[in-house]
Amino acid sequence: MEKMKLKLLYSDLKPELELIEKELEQAVDSESLLLNDASLHLLQAGGKRIRPVFVLLAGKFGEYDIELLKRVAVPLELIHMASLVHDDVIDDSEIRRGRPTVKSEWNNSVAMYTGDFILARALERITEIESPRIHDILSKTLIEVCRGEIIQIEHKYRLDQSLRDYLRRIKRKTALLISSSCELGALVSGTDEKTAAHLRRFGYFIGMSFQIIDDILDFTASDQELGKPAGSDFIQGNITLPILYARQNPEIYQMLRDNLDLDISDEKRLEIVRTIRTSSAVDEAKRMSERYLEKALKELDYLPKGSATKTMRKIAFFIGKRKF
Ligand code: IPE
Ligand code: IPE
Ligand code: MG
Ligand code: MG
Repeated sequence: MEKMKLKLLYSDLKPELELIEKELEQAVDSESLLLNDASLHLLQAGGKRIRPVFVLLAGKFGEYDIELLKRVAVPLELIHMASLVHDDVIDDSEIRRGRPTVKSEWNNSVAMYTGDFILARALERITEIESPRIHDILSKTLIEVCRGEIIQIEHKYRLDQSLRDYLRRIKRKTALLISSSCELGALVSGTDEKTAAHLRRFGYFIGMSFQIIDDILDFTASDQELGKPAGSDFIQGNITLPILYARQNPEIYQMLRDNLDLDISDEKRLEIVRTIRTSSAVDEAKRMSERYLEKALKELDYLPKGSATKTMRKIAFFIGKRKF
């Protein structure tokens, strides 16, 4: 339902997105039945395709050429997919997009190579663009995603980490890929540097807000809405923004501390989720997300008005309110 609403926002892009969808399917095709099955398993489970959408929208600020745009949109979605397959190994997650994860349907080794394979396909595709600058942006983004995920492992169960630690981590693991989607869409369309920079910053702020909302939803949405158990982040030791705010209350702090890094019961999990959800932490985290959204919207003010800025604005509002 929610996903339908989001898709409606970018219905103007439907033909292009269908083309990208076909290319994604071709991209994950190989002579290995196992790799095909595992990749298609995730691909066909859907997903919001927000990164290709941002590539296309950014392309509207220059010479809009779908042939060029798809050459960055497809690799970017593939990189995202590969990072999800690996992320589910790291987070030991059973469910993604309402389906068993590759690591749970098959196993960690299959997931490792499926992720590598999808990533390699992304690299193969990006060679269709002869631009060292674009390759450079993409490689640097990938390096940052890896750093973000590694920092997340290093920060696991550290209840005393700072807000800055958190913001730096989500910048790397999420915001930069969305930022690069906007920037690359602009660059392949030949926009001027200023426009590309505003779009890059728009993507960065949206990306920050997007991950903060994701982290809030882990406490406020139901298991069903999430397609995975609520509170998974805490269970996995991932200390997110709502926790950082909630820990300021000494009683909640003690409760979190007492249950950290334990194999807790389902009842306890729901109790923790309820405690966070009913605390002021959720509103505080939402305010932080809104601050980033406002910054994103401000970037749009520097861009020429038109259907692309309008859709970007709508997506920004949707992200602020999304429920999945
Ligand atoms: C999930 O990204 C991981 C985060 C960066 C929060 P998305 O929410 O874009 O995942 P899909 O592609 O729609 O499943
Ligand atoms: C996002 O991390 C995944 C990447 C950026 C690689 P999370 O672990 O927070 O995302 P979900 O909740 O599994 O989608
Ligand atoms: Mg995860
Ligand atoms: Mg993770």
